[in-house]
Amino acid sequence: MATPVAKAKADQRGGAPVLSLSVGMTDEIFHQPVMKREVLEHLQVRDEGLWVDATVGEGGHALAVLEAFPGSRVLGIDRDPRGLSRAARRLQSFGQRFIPAQGSYSQMVELAQSQGITQADGILMDLGISSRQVDSPGYGLSFQRDEPLDMRFDPTDDTATAAQIVNTSSEEELRGILFQFGEEPNARAIARAIVQDRPINTTRELAGLVARVAGPSRGRRIHPATRTFQALRVAVNDELAHLESGLKAAISLLAPGGRLVVISYHSLEDRLVKTTLAREATQCVCPPGLPVCVCQHLPTLRLVSRRVVRPTDEEVRDNPRSRSARLRAAQRLDAGKELK
Ligand SMILES: C[S@@+](CC[C@H](N)C(=O)[O-])C[C@H]1O[C@@H](n2cnc3c(N)ncnc32)[C@H](O)[C@@H]1O
Repeated sequence: MATPVAKAKADQRGGAPVLSLSVGMTDEIFHQPVMKREVLEHLQVRDEGLWVDATVGEGGHALAVLEAFPGSRVLGIDRDPRGLSRAARRLQSFGQRFIPAQGSYSQMVELAQSQGITQADGILMDLGISSRQVDSPGYGLSFQRDEPLDMRFDPTDDTATAAQIVNTSSEEELRGILFQFGEEPNARAIARAIVQDRPINTTRELAGLVARVAGPSRGRRIHPATRTFQALRVAVNDELAHLESGLKAAISLLAPGGRLVVISYHSLEDRLVKTTLAREATQCVCPPGLPVCVCQHLPTLRLVSRRVVRPTDEEVRDNPRSRSARLRAAQRLDAGKELK
């Protein structure tokens, strides 16, 4: 099976990131996987293993594993049934070596068990959203097209859509969402304008409102609505809570010696990943100031490297969407003992 051979770049109107998609053998366009070489290296993929791609998306990383290691199997999880069915179609030539499972990575242990899998040799969590989700109609994630403000990864989830949050939350709640999940410096003014202007039901209405509040875009690198859209997406999908339990689930599913590789795309995600991995790798989690350790904490992980791994300049040139990616990796310990 051919790996990506060409790229299609969506236009960059409004300063939004260029979306990089790659073209496979069937000329179908797919999300371009970020740091593919570094992922394989840090996961230490080998033949005969069972690997969990906990955010399989359109299957770019899974394809790389299955192609490079003919004895490997991949359990591919995604919350988005639309992306998952594309991945399943794309990877159907691998037969039973690719096992698709729809759901959140916070349910990874149960999803694995339902396929008869009790341990994984390595787990990848490539966070954020795929180019397809930004670029396709129906998600309500892009301010480049006018459509209902939805933003749910799983359209069958009976959680509130972005439109429901925008139209029913108090000004204070909206300010909190924008500030906490988008680190939006204009959170207060945007929240006030939303409450004055609502109902707001479409992506364009919201993007236009934020642009008006932000004023002229002199020297701005990103569209003024980028942080607002991120904040609402994180709130709609309760992303940080899923990530926190997803990391715990990954640690419990990993076989001793197995690697966990996480790629994050914004500082909120990265901070949570960094502190969780550091905590799991530490001997003592007692509050500072205690004269002796009373926590009896056993480390479950060893950090593979303390520094984040970033995409090469060449990759960022080739796929500008990769520019904010940060990869962290850790290895599962056995009963608190460091493994070689
Ligand atoms: C950056 S994309 C992954 C792209 C994939 N590595 C590829 O090569 O095509 C992130 C994916 O994570 C999925 N996702 C987000 N939150 C999730 C969760 N809680 N559980 C499982 N998948 C999730 C999104 O639906 C999206 O498909």
